[in-house]
Amino acid sequence: MNYDIAKPELAGDGALRVEWAGRRMPVLDSVRERFRAERPLDGHVVAACLHVTAETANLMMALRDGGAEPLLCASNPLSTQDDVAAALVAEGIPVFAIRGEDSETYYKHINAVLDHKPAVTMDDGADLATVLHTDRRDLEVIGSTEETTTGVIRLRAMAADGTLRVPVVAVNDSATKHLFDNHFGTGQSTLDGIIRATNLLLAGQNLVVVGYGDCGRGVADRADGLGAKVIVVEVDPVRALEAAMDGFRVMTADEAAAAGDIFITVTGNKHVLRMEHFDRMKDGAILANSGHFDIELDLASLRAASTSRRDVRNNLEEYLLEDGRRILLVAEGRLVNLGAAEGHPADVMDMSFSNQALAAEYLIINRDELEPKIYTLPREIDEQVSSIKLESLGGGLEKLTEDQIAYLSGWQEGT
Ligand code: ADE
Repeated sequence: MNYDIAKPELAGDGALRVEWAGRRMPVLDSVRERFRAERPLDGHVVAACLHVTAETANLMMALRDGGAEPLLCASNPLSTQDDVAAALVAEGIPVFAIRGEDSETYYKHINAVLDHKPAVTMDDGADLATVLHTDRRDLEVIGSTEETTTGVIRLRAMAADGTLRVPVVAVNDSATKHLFDNHFGTGQSTLDGIIRATNLLLAGQNLVVVGYGDCGRGVADRADGLGAKVIVVEVDPVRALEAAMDGFRVMTADEAAAAGDIFITVTGNKHVLRMEHFDRMKDGAILANSGHFDIELDLASLRAASTSRRDVRNNLEEYLLEDGRRILLVAEGRLVNLGAAEGHPADVMDMSFSNQALAAEYLIINRDELEPKIYTLPREIDEQVSSIKLESLGGGLEKLTEDQIAYLSGWQEGT
């Protein structure tokens, strides 16, 4: 078997973490059980470019149980859990991923999974899809799936300019993905990463969240719960107003730069904090990014302006500016939740990855009807995923009475 990982000897440690995550993934477990019986993916190569984590490992094993031949490469150079990569290889699933790999190796690994001529590609950030539309236009696939807001934005841009040549399922757009993973997953794991890297007490800190989408809202909400004084920076007036009415201070980036102690970017856009903002920050300000790419902070300018750099803790770098101020950067400005912590907990990846498995099945079942455009999974799938998850949490679901069903479908009954 062809693979490229850092530490095969960590397979035992990885297997334990994969098992632990699996215990918190009841929805994926039920999909996996059905997949075992029905084998809907039989004989299809599925190439996944996802964060190589214990949760992803459970997805890979569910795909395999559905009859697929899964392969995995990393969707970020710094998010690979080397022990998990080793555990998957020991399970017979090829992995091409090494934590800390350079850009050349990262793309070598992307091409390695594509060399297996996948029927379906699975992305977190649209890197496989992008390569399929540039260097590897020779490959024909049934379709692709996409996990994140950032990836869906990239793919919609491809669709808008007529470049998109494969059907794509936007997994991110399923309610049981973005309402939970983006909010609760990013909210908790982002702070987890910052806390592991700094060991700071968040209570009483001025914590600036740049971007108030599903992810930003989650971060602001969780930081508020830990006692931070949250400031939101947002360009969309409706979202900014929502942040204000959620009880947060809303400021321009310039104002927030001077006020903040900790800054977290979650916008999906580039250079949302730049030198003009770093120039206004306090000595000891902490920068972290939880957006998909490491472009939200203008790090080239920060590095150029600093007179020295040192590692002060694991995943924490300190930049010294000419005027003596120190700016701290968590996890190299890469996704802080996966760079400095373990990513979203399994409880929430359970739903995201059930949707991924069901999206692969959807592409394969409907392959003759699909066109090169962006699809969302049917609402019934969201309802099934939610129902199983709710049951696993011990929640009961109320049912409409016949009388209520008739009332909702009629219009005559008033006061
Ligand atoms: N994205 C965010 N958290 C993740 C996790 N735990 N596994 C895979 N992808 C993720």
